[in-house]
Amino acid sequence: MKIVRTIPELKKIVREVRKSGGTIGLVPTMGHLHQGHLSLVKAGRSECDFVAVSIYVNPIQFGAGEDFEHYPRDLTTDAGLCREEGVDLIFSPSDRDMYPQGYDTYVLVEKLTRGLCGRGRPGHFRGVTTVVTKLFNLLEPDTAYFGQKDAQQALVLKKMAADLNMNLTLKIMPTVREADGLAMSSRNTYLSSEERETALVLYKSLNRAEELILGGCRKGSKIIGAMEAIIFREPMAKLEYIEIADTTNLETLEELKDEVLIALAVKVGKTRLIDNIIVEVL
Ligand code: PAF
Repeated sequence: MKIVRTIPELKKIVREVRKSGGTIGLVPTMGHLHQGHLSLVKAGRSECDFVAVSIYVNPIQFGAGEDFEHYPRDLTTDAGLCREEGVDLIFSPSDRDMYPQGYDTYVLVEKLTRGLCGRGRPGHFRGVTTVVTKLFNLLEPDTAYFGQKDAQQALVLKKMAADLNMNLTLKIMPTVREADGLAMSSRNTYLSSEERETALVLYKSLNRAEELILGGCRKGSKIIGAMEAIIFREPMAKLEYIEIADTTNLETLEELKDEVLIALAVKVGKTRLIDNIIVEVL
């Protein structure tokens, strides 16, 4: 496994893989890898000849006062995990290489980024779509893998790839959860043991929503009310949003039908956590 830090070195390797006719699978990450990331790597390993993992904490997707400085970085441990999974290459560039002085180009998906996380994190998705476009151009993947835990990100990236005629397939893999249901996230490491308990409100409230839908409830406001009741019981949890939305365009649904995305963001102490489920409304 190669650990590549510079763009010229990366381009040389990508050119060689392309020349040999091999397919490239890319797992874009910000590092501090967990089983969620590794499930994407495993999918890539089973489908592609050459698997690359990018590890880059992208400064332009963090807002002022967010956790860019504190985001966990541990390339040695990440490299060990990648090696065990048979990854061929880790690309871990510097900020200077990704955004040299005078950098001035951004990619923006407009409508899909306005609601949900986009409301509380202005500029976040513009940062994500910009860095992912750069990573696609640099690594030339045939397939790129993302997690369903970041449901809005997944939809935004799919829209970007379709609108810009990008020549690759995006695969969205299921959320991986801890035994008690907490969605895996690099940010879970910020949680104290008490906060870790509180963090279960995300999963519990999603379960309650699903239960209500399966029991015949079709009213968005009623379901949101029941979810809020669970979250408001926890003094350490501060709700940012709950959204029940169309799974394709993220428009809010009051009358539930077909298939719905139920997504929420909750701050537990200082840690912002997100989670979601998709429920079939029969
Ligand atoms: O989901 C993430 O880890 C990041 O948003 C991504 C896609 C790697 C872009 O920095």
